[in-house]
Amino acid sequence: MEITSIKGFRDILPEETGIWQRLEAEARRVFEAFGFQEIKTPILEKTELFSRGIGQETDIVSKEMYSFKDIKDRSMTMRPEATASVTRAYIQHRPYRKYPIQKLYSIGPMFRHERPQKGRFRQFHQINAELFGDPGSKSDADIIFMAMYLFESVGLDDLTLNLNSLGCPECRPLFKEKLKGYLSDKMPSLCSDCERRAVTNPLRVFDCKVESCKEVVLAAPSISEFLCQACQEHFESLQGYLNGSDIRFVLNKRLVRGLDYYNRTTFEIQTEHLGAQNAVAGGGRYDGLVKLLGGPDHPATGFAVGMERVVALLTDKQAPEPKGPDLFIAALGEPADRASFKWVEALRKSGVWVELDYASKGLKSQMKKAGRLGAKKVLIVGDDELDSGRGILRDMLTKEQVEVDLKEVIEIIKGIF
Ligand code: HAM
Repeated sequence: MEITSIKGFRDILPEETGIWQRLEAEARRVFEAFGFQEIKTPILEKTELFSRGIGQETDIVSKEMYSFKDIKDRSMTMRPEATASVTRAYIQHRPYRKYPIQKLYSIGPMFRHERPQKGRFRQFHQINAELFGDPGSKSDADIIFMAMYLFESVGLDDLTLNLNSLGCPECRPLFKEKLKGYLSDKMPSLCSDCERRAVTNPLRVFDCKVESCKEVVLAAPSISEFLCQACQEHFESLQGYLNGSDIRFVLNKRLVRGLDYYNRTTFEIQTEHLGAQNAVAGGGRYDGLVKLLGGPDHPATGFAVGMERVVALLTDKQAPEPKGPDLFIAALGEPADRASFKWVEALRKSGVWVELDYASKGLKSQMKKAGRLGAKKVLIVGDDELDSGRGILRDMLTKEQVEVDLKEVIEIIKGIF
């Protein structure tokens, strides 16, 4: 019986990888211009890293993690996001001793056991950026600018930046109390998860996807009414920077994000073209996480881009261009086959995409193969051509044929491509 891939885990086929590569290349180009350096962390971490870092009451930790016991009975988890892992690495390797501001990006797969649907997978990929060591609004503005610039540079310009402030340990407790009070009257309308959250971690009720819970939060108090002066000033200053750089945003009082580590700035970049899974990127400030995970009291801010969603938007915009080799060498007979094999390898070393026929069949069959592959040109060489030292170069589009000097063939072909 055929073995297929696991639900929510998908193959990214060669037709799609061109867009993935372009997105990755743009992210590297843009992020490195902002002084970010790449970090690669393991996919597998101790479960405790995420349960402590992201928060026990979040959907991610409470029901979406791929966790299992290893051979020594230790609980391991396949990373559901990158921030906790990058923060662990930051604490473990102490790069801040050399440079107090650390700007790190990473690209790779994440794993969440969510219900698969359009734009939502169980293995998905993020481009992730984290900036450690600065508490101010200017670094928030800088990373938001960077995210927006990445989208602009891949050709996505109709996205909406949603912005909110979640306050700090000074002002959030007051808001939480008010919210708890509000929710305590609404228990009958809440789902069983939210009944519990309303007591343990009321902010999480804002993330709930159950309709009756969504209705309850519509009239709930919002954090913006409770921000302390320092948080208010931080938030206004951020808006000042964004306005100054012509970055348009909407203030969204209900934006709490699904992870517990955020404080002050939170943001989400949304699209109208992907249905329910409308966030192409999300992030914010998480000043308490480094300390919470056992490190020094260092502030941080960052975001992650969901690559599948960006690729879906880019694929809708532009059909991937069909790609074909630059040259196909149709060799007829053993001497030509031997001679051309040498040329193939030499041309490939200089970056020309060359294909050949492994089975060394007849001319008709090889020309058919070249056509199917979409080769731009075909070099035809048989015994006669080898004897005369002149091969035939055929342009597959115009059907024009010219003779080429086989002694110079590598230089001639390199000159064309
Ligand atoms: P997040 O909002 O959980 O944040 O994920 C960021 C982005 O990843 C989402 O906006 C979405 O585009 C994509 N994403 C999330 N889950 C899925 C899924 N199941 N399928 C496809 N795409 C998905 C974080 O992960 C934070 N670590 C972001 C961050 C970095 N905050 C500070 N630094």
